[in-house]
Amino acid sequence: MPVITNIDDLRRLYARRVPRMFYDYTESGSWTEQTFRENTTDFEQIRLRQRVAVDMQGRSTATSMVGQEVAMPVALAPVGLTGMQHADGEIKAARAAERFGVPFTLSTMSICSIEDVAAHTERPFWFQLYTMKDEDYVRRLIARARDAKCSALVITLDLQILGQRHKDIKNGLSAPPKLTPKTILNLATKWGWGLEMLSTRRRQFGNIVGHVDGISDPSSLMAWTNEQFDPSLDWEKVKKIRDQWDGPVILKGILDAEDAKAALKVGADAIVVSNHGGRQLDGALSSIRALPSILDAVGDRIEVHLDSGIRSGQDILKAVAMGAKGTWIGRAYIYGLGAMGQQGVTRALELLHKELDVSMALCGRRRIGELDRDVLLIPRDFEGTWQTG
Ligand code: GLV
Repeated sequence: MPVITNIDDLRRLYARRVPRMFYDYTESGSWTEQTFRENTTDFEQIRLRQRVAVDMQGRSTATSMVGQEVAMPVALAPVGLTGMQHADGEIKAARAAERFGVPFTLSTMSICSIEDVAAHTERPFWFQLYTMKDEDYVRRLIARARDAKCSALVITLDLQILGQRHKDIKNGLSAPPKLTPKTILNLATKWGWGLEMLSTRRRQFGNIVGHVDGISDPSSLMAWTNEQFDPSLDWEKVKKIRDQWDGPVILKGILDAEDAKAALKVGADAIVVSNHGGRQLDGALSSIRALPSILDAVGDRIEVHLDSGIRSGQDILKAVAMGAKGTWIGRAYIYGLGAMGQQGVTRALELLHKELDVSMALCGRRRIGELDRDVLLIPRDFEGTWQTG
């Protein structure tokens, strides 16, 4: 068993174990991948202030997100095709999250269905909704999430159409993978993954297949998004969906202060500052750079979370100290899942937790609520001097 000391160790194991097409799906940004890269490199520009001779006993990373207690300010982000990274992936990730005490968010584009995840977990999870042209299907999805006792609805706003990720097109990404000479060659080197996949019946988009008609290729994320996602989605429609849900609503994919204000108006409980992990609009600002202006605009009136670029506990610390109430991780847990299943997700969470806890202590802080900008050294022009219009 290799010694795993950081998230990148999990990524390396993951790369060896999982078919290339699914690794590439995770490890891609759109077009030139500039935003994908800057999501992480911009975190590196922020430094921490070391403080000493502060009693560091009795530390805790516990806090809350949309009124729910969490063991640390981290939620598992919705990630499409998670059940292709490891057999029954969504169930495994949800179980790891509930045992750790952080929320798991199930993607509309999951392999395991809402009902399946609910049947195999004990605590409520969050459900992420993509809005579709078929309003009736959307209503049914929301009702299914309600029946499954999901404790928050996450509406993703930055993917009405799919950003182009070159590798997915070249690989012919599909769930399950189509058997071409290229995929067969690659699958032949992924025995562990393949045997586990053969032992499960969950190999298709579980919230879709059998629930909706009229998709030309139900195994293709691209076909599904092109044919079904609602390109006419606007704030009025967002408000209508918001009003169908009694509990907390989180709007994900906000990167601009004007949109943050609009989110406030439709009655969202939280927003997630996100560029979809650099997978949608390449050339957009990294999330951590966009965060301060959004906090200035709405931070005192709505919970602001951050997603995109979190790969360590120090990244969590930086985002929270800057003012985010919580952070979301996608790739960081998918690496663990692909590498080692449920145990790998737990390992990822443990690594992040330890890095957060130790870094907090070395900054002279004992609680999440004590983290503020005072622990950060932010380059003077970090947000950048941009001109619009
Ligand atoms: C879907 O959410 C994707 O980024 O592929």
